[in-house]
Amino acid sequence: MSESFAQTVEILKSAQQVVAFTGAGISAESGIPTFRDPDGLWEEFPPETFANWSGLLRTAFWKPSRLVEFLDAVFTPIADAEPNEAHRALAQLQDHVQTRIVTQNVDGLHRESGSRVVREIHGSFFRIITGRNQFLYDLTREQFRQITQRIQKIRKGPFKLIRLSRALAPILGLRGLRIKRPNLVLFGESLADPDWTLAMQDVEKCDVLIVVGTSGMVFPAAQIPYQAKHLGATVITIDPHEEVVGGIWLRGTAVEVLPLLIQSVLS
Ligand code: OAD
Repeated sequence: MSESFAQTVEILKSAQQVVAFTGAGISAESGIPTFRDPDGLWEEFPPETFANWSGLLRTAFWKPSRLVEFLDAVFTPIADAEPNEAHRALAQLQDHVQTRIVTQNVDGLHRESGSRVVREIHGSFFRIITGRNQFLYDLTREQFRQITQRIQKIRKGPFKLIRLSRALAPILGLRGLRIKRPNLVLFGESLADPDWTLAMQDVEKCDVLIVVGTSGMVFPAAQIPYQAKHLGATVITIDPHEEVVGGIWLRGTAVEVLPLLIQSVLS
């Protein structure tokens, strides 16, 4: 056992309030590609085009096949994913200490793994809202899978845009006189509320912040580790490649590190 691992176990054993701030890396071992790793989503689909509504609409109009490819690349891994041992370990930690999850992920896996307090600051694919951000309904992963299967079929054949709008009808389009859409935060949009406001309150109160699998490239979410450190919390990073802010770095993948860590805290 490394010195910093043993130190982290002791810190977590005596912690009062823990926040786990997670990014795409925690879901990588559930089969969902990250954004900025070498095989990441933004490598093939640049965010300048695919992470904002105007780019997506332009692509829909001029290159519908490309949009279908992108949606397939985003939807399929999420539809097939299950929580991994790292998600489950964080859910177990809440039995020992008050634990809040603040996630940038939109894949719903923290909730599915049993974490009770989850702030989805970049929204969720599984929450459908109106154009004015009012809640409409939640989607199950099975419903999401059915939409994904329809998208996959559009890769072949004509009339892609019409077929795409039909495939996406359960989550995007009109509901009565109102627009409905998934609660996703795209580039240039405000973070999802109330989750963002509640997340900032959690970060102010925590004495330990565990950062898992985020490159810390996207603001304002990326300010969280700095804010926590500034307010006196111990920051622990779990990531195979990088540490976002100085503190303790447990170098390894989420599934390599988190289950062992939480098991040691609970034993
Ligand atoms: P990134 O793709 O930017 O970073 C992924 C991080 O996960 C990197 O630090 C990797 O080293 C790490 N990583 C890779 N595999 C891992 C594993 N198995 N276990 C642990 N860590 C691993 O993803 P995010 O930081 O989440 O926003 O990206 C932040 C935001 O950028 C996303 O929420 C999304 C994106 O654009 C929006 O679209 C608004």
